[in-house]
Amino acid sequence: MFSKIQNGRLVIDRRDVIRGGLAAGAAAFLPAGLAHAKGEAPIGQTETIELGDASSVDVSALNPGELAVIMMNGTFVGILRRTEDQQNAAAAVEGALSGETDADRTVDAEYLVAELKCLHRGCYVAYTGESDRTFVCPCHRTSFDAAGRVISGKTSRSLPFIGHTIENGVVSFAEG
Ligand code: FES
Repeated sequence: MFSKIQNGRLVIDRRDVIRGGLAAGAAAFLPAGLAHAKGEAPIGQTETIELGDASSVDVSALNPGELAVIMMNGTFVGILRRTEDQQNAAAAVEGALSGETDADRTVDAEYLVAELKCLHRGCYVAYTGESDRTFVCPCHRTSFDAAGRVISGKTSRSLPFIGHTIENGVVSFAEG
């Protein structure tokens, strides 16, 4: 892992991030020791980035369309720096299946911060990099937009929102 904790902050290195487009057949790219059963880890993840004792994450190195996946409190949390297309596509959708607006799902329109867990049966989703079907669950194909809301599939429940603030590319997690 190239990302490092410095002064209580996890600083993300771009060599650790997921760029999308790997959803179909991504397992072929994973080193043998990291091969996971379907849905046990986010697809495209090559190393686990641990939050450890840090309470904030510097994602300023991310380019639009890149996703940092962090192991936090025993689960995988994604920080997606959304492209303009992803932001526009999410803002254009009123409500989706959950009834939530894009603004309900984001603190800063440029970033989505959510647990990457599909609430149908708990599989971790794959990041596609697309604007509409941004995440897809590998288990039963539920698809999610760039706000983490379900577009179609087996549940109407969004990817769980993680409380946070964002300033200058630094995500700070809410206490408790
Ligand atoms: Fe995601 Fe079933 S666990 S669709």
